[in-house]
Amino acid sequence: MPRLLSALRRQPVDRPPVWIMRQAGRFLPEYRATREQAGSFVELCRSPRLAAEVTLQPIRRFGLDGAIIFSDILLPLAPLGVHFEFTDGGGPHLAQPLDDPRSWQRLSPPPAWAGTEFVAEALGLVRSSLPEEVAVIGFCGAPWTLACYLVEGRTSRDHAATKAALYAHPAEFRALLDALADAMAAYLGQQVAAGAQAVQVFDSWAGTLSAADYRRHVVPALARLLNAVPTVPRIVYVGGGGHLTPVLAPLACEAVSVDWRCPLAVAAASLPGKAIQGNLDPAVLLSSPGAIRSATAAMLDAAPTVGYVANLGHGILPATPVENVEAFLDVIRGRT
Ligand code: CP3
Repeated sequence: MPRLLSALRRQPVDRPPVWIMRQAGRFLPEYRATREQAGSFVELCRSPRLAAEVTLQPIRRFGLDGAIIFSDILLPLAPLGVHFEFTDGGGPHLAQPLDDPRSWQRLSPPPAWAGTEFVAEALGLVRSSLPEEVAVIGFCGAPWTLACYLVEGRTSRDHAATKAALYAHPAEFRALLDALADAMAAYLGQQVAAGAQAVQVFDSWAGTLSAADYRRHVVPALARLLNAVPTVPRIVYVGGGGHLTPVLAPLACEAVSVDWRCPLAVAAASLPGKAIQGNLDPAVLLSSPGAIRSATAAMLDAAPTVGYVANLGHGILPATPVENVEAFLDVIRGRT
């Protein structure tokens, strides 16, 4: 079994498996070349051949333990009638944010699996190109994080509009989260059928809510999504979610991915029976190989001995030098 899947199932491994969030991205010259060829970011995602190619690039260069399919959390919202634009450097943008309950009710659930076939096709290409020991990872956005993008229409620092909508209309907001959970469950089902061997649910903005509000308003929809995923290990990424780990403990997932603000030992202690993934600060990879080696060794020293997947605490930054990634990986691969 690929060591990534063994670790997610808390089985013994020869060394910690490692992959990197946003590993197919702008820090790689070969990604920038394929992106140029594709025209736009969305065209790159929607071309199964090119999406498969950029998914494989970091595996060829670094020999990672997992290949995360190249796409974006906002693309499977298109079949629901929501079309984000991706502006260069400016991030995703929605011309008409969905900031009131009436606009949420207009979201139309697609017929099962329609409108994201390009992701399934790319997954098939990736699985058939990889050796057995590299696991293919599918992903989606968590209902809360997707709702943040729908309501704000772009990346936000404080999510004031989303929180205002939640506190003003809790029942309708909860229905929105449930609708997103159902759509993402179908989408992950499609990815598993196409070859994904593990899935990660990105709740990048989990940390903006208190533990009490996250438990009350968000966890039911997250549980609904996780309960509907068929038979593969489920990883939940919680950005800024150090205070949320006790709330995540009852969820049906095999692993929780935390960032650098949440000590690995704290995560492991509050999530009995789950694997832990993370959590080096991506900014450390902008420093020097020496500083990276000692920070990575410290991360491994703090990690649980069973059920651990090495990763960053968030996506790798576009300015990261490739040799700094090598330093990070060398330390992890040196550990037995
Ligand atoms: O990890 C991987 O290598 C797989 C690909 C992947 C992308 N986005 C590609 C991408 C994954 C897993 C995502 C998830 C995603 N997308 C998240 C959750 C993870 C996180 O970072 O918190 C979020 C919040 C988004 C929404 C999104 N997409 C933003 C905020 C941006 C702009 C920021 C940026 O880096 O430019 C995107 C665009 C995006 N998604 C890019 C990539 C490679 C950059 C597009 C480009 O090439 O210009």
